[in-house]
Amino acid sequence: MAFKADKLTKTYDTAGLKVPVSLGVIMDGNGRWAKKRLLPRSAGHRAGAENLKELCRNCGNYGVKYLTVYAFSTENWSRPEKEVSQLMKLFVEFFDKYDPELAEEGIRVRFTGDIDSLPEDLRRVCREGEERSKDRPKMQLIVAFNYGGRREITYAAQRLAEQVRRGEIDPSDITEDSLSANMYLPDVPDPELIIRPSGEMRLSNFLLWESAYSELWVSDTLWPDFGYEELTQAFRDYAKRDRRFGGLSAKDSDEGDKQS
Ligand code: IPE
Ligand code: IPE
Ligand code: MG
Repeated sequence: MAFKADKLTKTYDTAGLKVPVSLGVIMDGNGRWAKKRLLPRSAGHRAGAENLKELCRNCGNYGVKYLTVYAFSTENWSRPEKEVSQLMKLFVEFFDKYDPELAEEGIRVRFTGDIDSLPEDLRRVCREGEERSKDRPKMQLIVAFNYGGRREITYAAQRLAEQVRRGEIDPSDITEDSLSANMYLPDVPDPELIIRPSGEMRLSNFLLWESAYSELWVSDTLWPDFGYEELTQAFRDYAKRDRRFGGLSAKDSDEGDKQS
């Protein structure tokens, strides 16, 4: 099986690069990938799903602990009905086909998004996938499905408003921390790095709350072609980023100390 052979031959040398604990990937460009090959868009989505399996293995082997991938946005329902139903079908197929490999790799599967509004069969795939994989130790694959950052923030606000209505908390208890604690998956750390293939310079409603200080890395490669080499390059570039969080870099604050 190619999957295993590859696993044995590839070495994951982390020298000179920094591997984020929590990584976000916007899996964009499937349609353009298919168009370039004169194929239907559905072929691009299929190739994209295959590539997700590769990304999971590479991230797991690099030591990423939380990989959040954008698979279907709250705005993607505006696409033609046929494309939406193909995407839903592919979603179910992906877990049927690859869950044994994800299990072998120790990858736990979780979902983030407005899962409760999905049709029952899809909700069941999500619930069963989460339940089946909950003890897998290596990495969490978090699939953002029917996900919108604005919808997530609205959801957290509604939950807090309910608590106020029930008299459990006071409006002054609504803080950045309590909002964070009421997002879909509060235990998942904010992504240190977000990768967007396909060249678009936008978040498209992905992890709006959680990405406040994420590093962004964009590549022109279309998602189905985004592989190990580019992932490695992203981690290499990430190692050189100076994350200041509004403060000063370590070097500048040392200089400040010397001057005073
Ligand atoms: C990403 O690829 C998949 C989804 C949004 C579901 P696209 O379908 O957006 O591909 P492009 O952007 O049209 O190339
Ligand atoms: C973002 O891609 C959503 C996913 C990859 C699932 P889109 O193709 O929907 O984003 P826009 O429309 O280019 O912003
Ligand atoms: Mg797109």
